[in-house]
Amino acid sequence: MVTTPLLPSDYLDLVSPLRAGADLRGRIEAVHPETGAAATVVIRPGRGWRGHTAGQYVRIGVDVDGVRLWRAYSITSPTNRQDGRVTITVKAIPDGKVSNHLVRRAKPGTLIQLDQPTGDFVLPRATPPKVLYLTAGSGITPVMGMLRDIEFDDAVMVHCAPQPQDVIFRDELHDLVADKKLRLTEVHTATDGMLDIARLGELVPDWAERETWACGPAGLLDAAEEHWRVHGVQERLHTERFRPTVVVAGAGGEVTFSATGKTVDADGATPLLDIGEEAGVLMPSGCRMGICFGCVTPLKAGAVRDLRTGEITEAEPGVLIQTCVSAAAGPCDIER
Ligand SMILES: Cc1cc2nc3c(=O)[nH]c(=O)nc-3n(C[C@H](O)[C@H](O)[C@H](O)COP(=O)(O)OP(=O)(O)OC[C@H]3O[C@@H](n4cnc5c(N)ncnc54)[C@H](O)[C@@H]3O)c2cc1C
Ligand code: FES
Repeated sequence: MVTTPLLPSDYLDLVSPLRAGADLRGRIEAVHPETGAAATVVIRPGRGWRGHTAGQYVRIGVDVDGVRLWRAYSITSPTNRQDGRVTITVKAIPDGKVSNHLVRRAKPGTLIQLDQPTGDFVLPRATPPKVLYLTAGSGITPVMGMLRDIEFDDAVMVHCAPQPQDVIFRDELHDLVADKKLRLTEVHTATDGMLDIARLGELVPDWAERETWACGPAGLLDAAEEHWRVHGVQERLHTERFRPTVVVAGAGGEVTFSATGKTVDADGATPLLDIGEEAGVLMPSGCRMGICFGCVTPLKAGAVRDLRTGEITEAEPGVLIQTCVSAAAGPCDIER
């Protein structure tokens, strides 16, 4: 009663936001520039943090201009970091709300929300004798988490970035090369052109024998999956995507967010998550690519299309949709 309308925990949050039992949060303790567009954010997680496996990602909730936005970032620190802090490394993308905020505006001391780490882009228990990392741009982040975690007998990396100065962690990668812990080929796409996956054998002759972890833009990963499949070694390829592959778009429709009382026109290609956020509706989210289920929302009326498969879901009692990979398929009503 003394603390009404706030709960006692709200006061505890003010003095001890990272305590055990509180909602999991983290405090940004430092932001280190990596390249002109990328920075490493050092986070002290709260007491409930369960630790990660190299290659996993964490969902973080950040307040940008007064709105809590959730995004996923791979953890780049090793699992045995002595000070208990973890790092993510973020590349600012054009018009990106959270990435630009973290790279250019986040300040030490800021509290963020955290989820427990998750993801299956990890190494097996027994480290493979020969490893290939195929990465591009910010796709190097989960792999850096692995390289910092264990020493490999035979690790090769092919990494693509427009120019040498765009290669995130370049100095550290070259230190690993100097210590003979890694063989590295950098493909500078601004001068060399895009990596032609059909010519991977010229860079890494034994690529098909290597257990491979690949992370980068959809074009690279689609080409890699096809290449490994054609050569019958698809079980050796592990991929991590930062964005969903949108394969199908169709006609859109009028979307009603009935809890908020807003109605907007939507095309058939834009995720309802984006449509809602654009309209000022509070939309829960996480990975924004269909893997975390942080965005599920009841579909009250109408129909939506899964942008990955084209499958249509029609409203019926209890039906939930993932707004990050669903678009309007005619008029629909979303319970937000
Ligand atoms: C499992 C997982 C791990 C990830 N790890 C990392 C990481 O370690 N480092 C990192 O920098 N990012 C990572 N991401 C991507 C990250 O979650 C965000 O998608 C990214 O930072 C963009 O968010 P934003 O708010 O800045 O952009 P938004 O404001 O959401 O989008 C702005 C515009 O950019 C487009 N866009 C959104 N995401 C991307 C993207 N990834 N590439 C190109 N265009 C995009 C949107 O369609 C939109 O047009 C990861 C994503 C996943 C799913
Ligand atoms: S936000 Fe992760 S599944 Fe939709």
